[in-house]
Amino acid sequence: MSQLPSFVQLNSRKASLIVDCLTKTPSILYWGKVLSVASSVEMIRHLSTRQEVKCAVVVEAPISLSPLNGQGFTGAPGIEINNHDNAWSLGGELTKVNQCNEQTVEFVSVDQIRKIEVVHTLHLDKQSSVLTASTRIVNLAVKPLDVHWCAAPTIPVPDSINKILSFEGRWSNEFLRNEVDLFMGSFLRENRKGKTSHDNFPGVVLHDDKTDEHSGNCYGFHLGWSGNHRTRVEHLPEGRNYAQLGELLMPGELTLGHGESYQSPNLYVSFSDSGLSELSQNFHQFVRSNLLRPEVKNKPRPIHFNTWEGLYFDHDMDTLKSLAQQVSQLGVERFVLDDGWFNGRRGDAAGLGDWYVDKDIYPDGLGPLIDHVNDQGLEFGLWFEPEMVNPDSDLYRKHPEWALATEGNEQLEFRNQLVLDLTNSAVIDYLFKVIDDILIEYPKIMYIKWDNNRDYNHPGNLLGRPAIHQQTLAFYKLVESLKAKHPHVEIESCASGGGRVDYGVLSHTDRVWTSDSNDALDRLSIQRGCSFFFPAEVMGAHVGPRDCHITGRHISIEMRAAVSFFGHMGIEMDPRELTDHEITALSEIISLHKKHRQLIHSGDLVRMNENKFSVDFGIVKQDKSHALFAYNSVNEVKRTNPDKYRFIGLDDDKSYQLNLIWPTDLKEFSPSVLAKVEGQTFSGEVLKQFGMQLPAFFPQTSLIFELKQV
Ligand code: GLA
Repeated sequence: MSQLPSFVQLNSRKASLIVDCLTKTPSILYWGKVLSVASSVEMIRHLSTRQEVKCAVVVEAPISLSPLNGQGFTGAPGIEINNHDNAWSLGGELTKVNQCNEQTVEFVSVDQIRKIEVVHTLHLDKQSSVLTASTRIVNLAVKPLDVHWCAAPTIPVPDSINKILSFEGRWSNEFLRNEVDLFMGSFLRENRKGKTSHDNFPGVVLHDDKTDEHSGNCYGFHLGWSGNHRTRVEHLPEGRNYAQLGELLMPGELTLGHGESYQSPNLYVSFSDSGLSELSQNFHQFVRSNLLRPEVKNKPRPIHFNTWEGLYFDHDMDTLKSLAQQVSQLGVERFVLDDGWFNGRRGDAAGLGDWYVDKDIYPDGLGPLIDHVNDQGLEFGLWFEPEMVNPDSDLYRKHPEWALATEGNEQLEFRNQLVLDLTNSAVIDYLFKVIDDILIEYPKIMYIKWDNNRDYNHPGNLLGRPAIHQQTLAFYKLVESLKAKHPHVEIESCASGGGRVDYGVLSHTDRVWTSDSNDALDRLSIQRGCSFFFPAEVMGAHVGPRDCHITGRHISIEMRAAVSFFGHMGIEMDPRELTDHEITALSEIISLHKKHRQLIHSGDLVRMNENKFSVDFGIVKQDKSHALFAYNSVNEVKRTNPDKYRFIGLDDDKSYQLNLIWPTDLKEFSPSVLAKVEGQTFSGEVLKQFGMQLPAFFPQTSLIFELKQV
């Protein structure tokens, strides 16, 4: 056997990772700011030596990539298994280190007694400084092995970290931030809803109390998985901290036969010593260069019109055609026909599963509508919710056994629908066929909105086994096989809004529906939360109705438009409600978005620190020659004038011309202070450090500034 290295080091542009191979199984010795040549692994090892203390083990068990019972680790183990024998006390030893390339390394540890192999794979992306980490467990023994938990690699974090920022929410209010102090014990978030969920996003940011958007140390963690999951951050009694994320498995969900293996979902981790905005920039860069398809990335994201909030189930060919005509005049580029087009779907009580065009509403099929939409210069997209079935459907009447269920237990009702059992290959074959048939019949369908609108409360499959693990993989595979046959079709991941937003689903789809809330005020917060891990171009963001259907709030067209301007923009309302003023405003902002979408969808996001009065951020071109900044006033300011606006993210040494590009007509109380600055040139230094006095206006106003290097 070749000799093992005593450590492995991976470096990226901004971070270094050192894995210690001298502990029995590998553990992270250092993960943080890139180390200079003056520092050595030996130095870090010496400085990390810990002393024996009273009433404690002489040498603490390492927080290895999978800390184990067999190593005497008394925090939460990274692997929990059972073979009704000795597997539970898995220990093992590092046997092989495969340096696959400069950025990727694989550590193979084997427990010879229990005949179990554990493989950890780490890849540090050079440009983005995002680490992708996974754990694979292989059963080399003859006896079957039950896997209860096999977390992605456990990542220790420094003792200076004392804050946990997590993301929680609910339907129509996703990605809310919740910050708590690190405490002794475990911070735990678990999701058992079968899909990523609105409530518990599988991601967390750990930082110290001095960290803000623009300075300080922070570590971001995100599990790329669209099923059940667990996030644990533990502060051990002896003062060490770690984060451990993985797939949450149900009892009996996963048993490995001889030679079989299980691989954890990928954990994505990044680090910044320059604050939370830079941490997000790392993740955005990673998504852009590793997850998004080049053909989608390189095409400007078309402006959407989605029929849902405008028409709901009220489909009618003449109305749809006239709406297509109307929105094309606003500058819309893609028309998405939402729920309501298939057999028996006159409301949410029937039809799911019967993916055939309803001949009562569309006697000649979808062809005439698609042709009309295309004639207006718009692409056509269609809504599906493939994983679900209404009991009131031909499919369910024929195949009641195709729904997930648990024997003898009544199903909890949820939007009149049940979840199909994707672990049954007959179900997959059916779903592939019905969707494929539609895409073959209508080759001009360029886009699918793939929805998923209920929780998986009874996730038992035909064999009576818990299904979520296989179900999630089967969902990914179904999407992939449809994409392989119809590569021109883009796919959006929606689950009653942002219920399935994660890097797992994003590896198979092209954008997400961030939230069902089109309320611009709520959206500011939702999009801000989502932006911690997701760049603007994947966040569906629509201009909703004047009176929001979900919150009842009345918000000006200018503000609704400005908020969706910073995502993948669209409109979702009945355009027949638009006043002349609103038509003009919408047309203007749509053409403004087209002018700037290249920057919005590729630039660096800089969030200003949170405050009670406004939500502020900028998008800065990487070479800092061009930027857009948003000031969104949310509440009436505390003092007579708003605070100054600081254009953080610009280059001190460059000069910029400043212009207010939105709204075109700003209602102010007195002659505008903007007259003094508009069109003028300023140094980046003063714009950043001294800041600009904002004008005084009504709350709930959004301003967009453009800064161009001169
Ligand atoms: C979900 C989606 C909505 C819409 C409806 C249709 O709620 O989030 O955007 O597609 O389903 O039923």
